[in-house]
Amino acid sequence: MSDHPALAALTPRLARIPTLDQVQLDAEEIAVLGRKAGALTNLLKELPQLDPDERRRVGAAANELKARFEAAIAERRVALVHAARAKVEAAVDSSMPGRRRFTGSIHPVTQVVDEILGIFKELGFVRAVGPEAETEWNNFRALNFPENHPAMDQHDTFYLDTGDRRSAEIDRRRGRTSGLFPTNERRQSESDRRRPQDGRTLLRTHTSPVQVRLMQEMQPPIRAVMPGVVYRKDPFDPSHAPAFLQIEGLAVDEGISFVDLKGTLQHFARRFFSARTQVRFRPSYFPFTEPSAEMDVQCQLCGGSWCPACKQTGWMEIMGCGMVHEQVLKNVNIDPEKYTGFAFGMGPQRIALQRYGINDIRLLYSGDMRFLTQFSL
Ligand code: DAH
Repeated sequence: MSDHPALAALTPRLARIPTLDQVQLDAEEIAVLGRKAGALTNLLKELPQLDPDERRRVGAAANELKARFEAAIAERRVALVHAARAKVEAAVDSSMPGRRRFTGSIHPVTQVVDEILGIFKELGFVRAVGPEAETEWNNFRALNFPENHPAMDQHDTFYLDTGDRRSAEIDRRRGRTSGLFPTNERRQSESDRRRPQDGRTLLRTHTSPVQVRLMQEMQPPIRAVMPGVVYRKDPFDPSHAPAFLQIEGLAVDEGISFVDLKGTLQHFARRFFSARTQVRFRPSYFPFTEPSAEMDVQCQLCGGSWCPACKQTGWMEIMGCGMVHEQVLKNVNIDPEKYTGFAFGMGPQRIALQRYGINDIRLLYSGDMRFLTQFSL
């Protein structure tokens, strides 16, 4: 080794390299070997100024020292990488089960509603909504319910106490009834427009009053589907809920007949369930349609070969329907001589239960992740 003072000063630093951490090592590499101002680099640059003998001696020693520095630094880098890896391995137990991440998904009922509205959209039906707090006129009278129809009974219908000015004021300030479902944006102006025949205010018991609103607002041709929440004083049991969804449908135009109703609803059933699904229409009664029918589809679970879900009938009832009653058209100032129409109403939650073979409607309200994650797309 040379006795050159710079070399003598550098040699002991070699021994410290195995103790340096990453940051110190980087700094030391620059200080010794750095291309611009490294101590050894500078020394090598000065060699030409030495006399030949000295130059050879110092040059050989400097080059040897440079090689030793390079080797020591490289070795230290490898050691630091190994040490870091060992630290991670000590902290992580790779035999532990992974942590599962849950991603949000669309509620099965929302999926069914979107799908139903989508099928009718293809047929030219627009989406319309109405308020959940309705007048007796829109919910019952305009729909041709007789004066003392049992459905209007306190027993089945939630009547709202709007006599009190304070609650009316709260209602007005809120402006909407629910953040989740279609609401009435025009509530304030509507309360100003109240007529004596509107009667009491209630929570709508079906979505049919949206038909009334629509027909009052526009003349035919009308093609609309109307989703929304409806309320009835029903127990919360496996097949009932006091608040549930309906989707109403209405088509009014010149020359619409029962054939159009059957064709449209059969098409819907085949698009929604499957191309080979059989449907049947049974005579029924609703005050606002004449004639009225109930549409059944082949049981989706047993395919028509009888099971508990279809109560051994092979069929599942999915909606009520019929030709809009002449009196209803008159009530909303549409000329029944010129126009006819068909209407239908279904419960997307019941349809979801039927489609997935679920036997308790309360599961759809539960928010239970074990249930809901089965429907994530
Ligand atoms: N509003 C009826 C109900 O809640 C369902 C219904 C039946 C709607 C026949 C209609 C219809 O539009 O034509 O039970």
